[in-house]
Amino acid sequence: MVESLTIRRPDDWHLHFRDGATMRAVVPQTARQFARAIVMPNLSPPVTTSALAAAYRQRILDAVPEGMAFTPLMTAYLTDNSDAEDLAAGFADGVLTAAKLYPAGATTNSDHGVTDIGRIAGVLEKMAEIGMPLCVHGEVTHADIDIFDREAVFIDRILVPLVERLPDLKVIFEHITTRQAVEFVDGSGANIGATITPQHLHINRNAMLVGGIRPHMYCLPVAKREEHRLALRKAATGESTRYFLGTDSAPHHRHAKESDCGCAGIFNAPFALESYLAVFEEEGAIDRFEAFASENGPRFYGLPLNEGTVTLEKVSVSVPATVDGGEAEIVPFHASETLSWRLAS
Ligand code: NCD
Ligand code: ZN
Repeated sequence: MVESLTIRRPDDWHLHFRDGATMRAVVPQTARQFARAIVMPNLSPPVTTSALAAAYRQRILDAVPEGMAFTPLMTAYLTDNSDAEDLAAGFADGVLTAAKLYPAGATTNSDHGVTDIGRIAGVLEKMAEIGMPLCVHGEVTHADIDIFDREAVFIDRILVPLVERLPDLKVIFEHITTRQAVEFVDGSGANIGATITPQHLHINRNAMLVGGIRPHMYCLPVAKREEHRLALRKAATGESTRYFLGTDSAPHHRHAKESDCGCAGIFNAPFALESYLAVFEEEGAIDRFEAFASENGPRFYGLPLNEGTVTLEKVSVSVPATVDGGEAEIVPFHASETLSWRLAS
């Protein structure tokens, strides 16, 4: 008999769908794996208001194949000029689930992001007051800070003072990549959670740079040294309920990554659960996978757990070298590798 694992239907608490033909190609791949996903607003131009989020949500829903149940959870992109009242109204209406802080210039399409957190003090106060979660891309952007140190410096300079000033604000420290981030979350109270991507559990920075430069292993925050990967694996598979699944699936077409200035982002949507489960199996923690994938996230956000289940079977699956990305192909995470679990259809 095939070994199998059945868990409550999981969610993805951070991903990128893009728009247009790319969105229509990638949404079904996530809807196959997850019941809900927190959708990042870094389109060009960005999704900065409740009205833009409502329209984007409808375009995503239109891309969900017939017969599949999938709920996009929308975020608003914070800028120096964000309107607290509009965000609060969007949150009250259920159009917005959270707001997203991109430090200006930190990553793909973040040029309209916040230039100084002091400029959104009023917005953050309002969010704390109404219980609206803040998703954070946790990297400073100063030219004098080494890219491998940007997350750790962000904790000291931005996150620690923010949490001190607004202890009631719910903060999701997204796609964490360092031991320092794990220490910060472990040392924080119930209002601080973090998502962890599959790639940061699987690879360290060598995967990007040894034996040739590998653009499909490049994302932001960039993969760090091995000690950090090990800290993340311990956090994800450990007892804390404040770590949860967020793939940061970030589709870029092959030519945009294989370029003299390749885009940051790893597309991991098609085999996300298979990828995470491999880590939990290697860590001897299959029994903790359901909490990470299906329970900790909704509990942190204050949303109901999903009904229904998904089953993964211990059957090897070959990840294709490329997948459909709409206008052009995309090279997925684990391209041309074999994974040992398969999501049963
Ligand atoms: C993301 C993207 O491409 O939109 N890229 C990435 O490397 N993760 C942006 C982000 O989440 O930083
Ligand atoms: Zn992201």
